[in-house]
Amino acid sequence: MDLYEYQAKDLFARYGVPVLPGTVATTADEARAAAEELGTTVVVKAQVKTGGRGKAGGVKLAETPDETRAKAEAILGMDIKGHTVHKVLITPASDIAEEYYFSFLLDRANRNFLAMASVEGGMDIEEVAATKPEALAKVAIDPIAGVDLAKAREIVAAAKFPAEVAEQVAEVVVKLWETFVREDATLVEVNPLVRDPQGRILALDGKVTLDDNASFRHADHAELVDVAAENPLEAEAKAKGLNYVKLDGQVGIIGNGAGLVMSTLDVVAYAGEEFGGVKPANFLDIGGGASAEVMANGLHIILNDQDVRSVFVNVFGGITACDQVAKGIVQALGILGDDATKPLVVRLDGNNVDEGRRILAEANHPLVTLVDTMDGAARKAAELAAAN
Ligand SMILES: Nc1ncnc2c1ncn2[C@@H]1O[C@H](COP(=O)(O)OP(=O)(O)O)[C@@H](O)[C@H]1O
Ligand SMILES: [Mg+2]
Repeated sequence: MDLYEYQAKDLFARYGVPVLPGTVATTADEARAAAEELGTTVVVKAQVKTGGRGKAGGVKLAETPDETRAKAEAILGMDIKGHTVHKVLITPASDIAEEYYFSFLLDRANRNFLAMASVEGGMDIEEVAATKPEALAKVAIDPIAGVDLAKAREIVAAAKFPAEVAEQVAEVVVKLWETFVREDATLVEVNPLVRDPQGRILALDGKVTLDDNASFRHADHAELVDVAAENPLEAEAKAKGLNYVKLDGQVGIIGNGAGLVMSTLDVVAYAGEEFGGVKPANFLDIGGGASAEVMANGLHIILNDQDVRSVFVNVFGGITACDQVAKGIVQALGILGDDATKPLVVRLDGNNVDEGRRILAEANHPLVTLVDTMDGAARKAAELAAAN
């Protein structure tokens, strides 16, 4: 789960990372009141879960409450990279002497954690990384040893922070590491980390990604979920305990086992090339032992996806035999009744496949096409999606 800037900075504050106070507003009037309360020049900041808000015009200085109101009015409702702005953060404007960059992240390729730091932070860090990689220090972090003050000093030295702020930055780095580990984050990023003219270090922006696999040990993370901003299909799937990820294609996918579903996405994308670039619409793993109810829940979500033109059910019978899966599909279609409107291509294989196919053939549902092979079924599903 990605957090909003204001949520990230709330977490930072709990671990002693220096941040400025702020108020979240959902209307221009609330923004005005927040500025009045702060009684200083403020910055109106779009709260959307994407970067580059500054460049998109989503971060604006406002000297008076009335100006704050006007700027908030302009920013609320703005579209930034496909994200509509529903909230703005009103926070004091800081004088900035220098902008730095700092992050901790999960380095999947090296099965490790990584610290990245640069004294050339700010809105152009991507360009710095691309054109001047030597200006972005990368320091591997041993997950067991973690980051103590000595390690933090090593990172700060590698990034060549100016001597007058080095110790302060190192202390902040230790606190960011504590945030990263104790909150089970996979990313903690501060860009910019600034030095103000008085020499103080401040996190002016914050980006945090929490590891959802660890949510069971963070009851308090539930309140960070922005239900309104969540994809409604993903929210329904989560509520029903289904492992579902919305994608942007047209072929709905249901399979059992994450590996099989992943390869199903691949074969559908491949087959879809022949039909004008048809792609998978989702990832959905209904797991082993898929009952009729689970199948119905999965189908319900997929059939409610406006983008879906056809559905590919790809099941390998293992512990759950194919006849049970076939019964599940038939029952699910019965439960869904008129809600089932899109063509289904079913490929069954494995344990008790003949009986499974017989059940589906006998049910002879008008929406269901049985195909024996995975490639053949993918092709059929792509063809139906393109035709629909
Ligand atoms: N409180 C603030 N006071 C002064 N300038 C700010 C403040 N917050 C952000 N900025 C400026 O706006 C830029 C963009 O803001 P930031 O929060 O980093 O958004 P994004 O990374 O999405 O563009 C920063 O690099 C900084 O120069
Ligand atoms: Mg930023």
